[in-house]
Amino acid sequence: MTPQLLAGKRGVIFGALDDQSIAWQIADVCAEMGAKFTLTNAPVAMRFGTISELAEKHGCEVIPADATSIEDMENLFQKSEEILGGKLDFVCHAIGMSLNVRKGRPYTDIKHEWMLKTFDISAVSFHKMCQVLFKGDHMADHGSILGLTYIASQRTFPDYSEMAESKALLESFARSFGYHFGEKNGVRVNTVSQSPTMTTAGKGVKGFKEFFGYADKMSPLGNAPARDCANYCATLFSDYTRFVTMQNLFHDGGFSNMGMSPKLIEQTADEE
Ligand SMILES: NC(=O)c1ccc[n+]([C@@H]2O[C@H](COP(=O)([O-])OP(=O)(O)OC[C@H]3O[C@@H](n4cnc5c(N)ncnc54)[C@H](O)[C@@H]3O)[C@@H](O)[C@H]2O)c1
Repeated sequence: MTPQLLAGKRGVIFGALDDQSIAWQIADVCAEMGAKFTLTNAPVAMRFGTISELAEKHGCEVIPADATSIEDMENLFQKSEEILGGKLDFVCHAIGMSLNVRKGRPYTDIKHEWMLKTFDISAVSFHKMCQVLFKGDHMADHGSILGLTYIASQRTFPDYSEMAESKALLESFARSFGYHFGEKNGVRVNTVSQSPTMTTAGKGVKGFKEFFGYADKMSPLGNAPARDCANYCATLFSDYTRFVTMQNLFHDGGFSNMGMSPKLIEQTADEE
């Protein structure tokens, strides 16, 4: 039996597109651990994805919201409180999209209007979300807000392009809002830095398949699967992490602290 770490907790989960999405796994784990939640995604994702299947599976409601729209998010959190019957104990932001990556523009020839749109979707949306939650007083005392990020915020991964800056911005928003939310009512704000994961967003990055294999070899524990990421996120929504805030937490099988990997060196030597 799955431990009921989230019994009685109410939440909102952004970003489940299909069953490969990290947010999908998070929803599955939260349901198994006893939470009630609403699901949300951009209106356009309702047509392309399969979020309604996830909602049916867990008997929860889907409230479409473009995360770049303050109005949509005000509606989302107000309705979620009504549906769930109280303030929110956790909110999970698992959103990312880069226009320049999607359209194959090289980093040295980026379209800057698209870059700004990427920042709005992938990072500023986190600030907008926090601001709507803060001003609308939607978070329960000692609640937990989480964003998903990637180590390219701190190191150079050339094909990750403008998403690197988006993630740096996202992590910074989480730290800064963590201060304000902590002072307000003990709400935690953190980011989880996940291993490369085979999802729609992940696979959109050039050379992702090869990089996935590289990261897997570089990490002593191997790449962390989406389901394990979901388990980790659930601990951060639970009461067992009430004093963890303003952190960027690596869930990456050890990748972030590796310098060199003998396994990869051997492979390179074999190829020479
Ligand atoms: N896949 C990876 O390798 C990896 C690694 C580390 C971190 N992450 C992060 O995990 C999070 C989830 O991504 P994923 O890999 O599960 O991919 P995914 O493609 O399944 O999810 C991305 C989601 O963002 C949503 N989205 C895009 N624009 C939106 C908007 N305007 N409003 C609301 N939602 C919008 C999409 O509809 C989709 O559901 C992202 O923040 C991503 O950057 C992914």
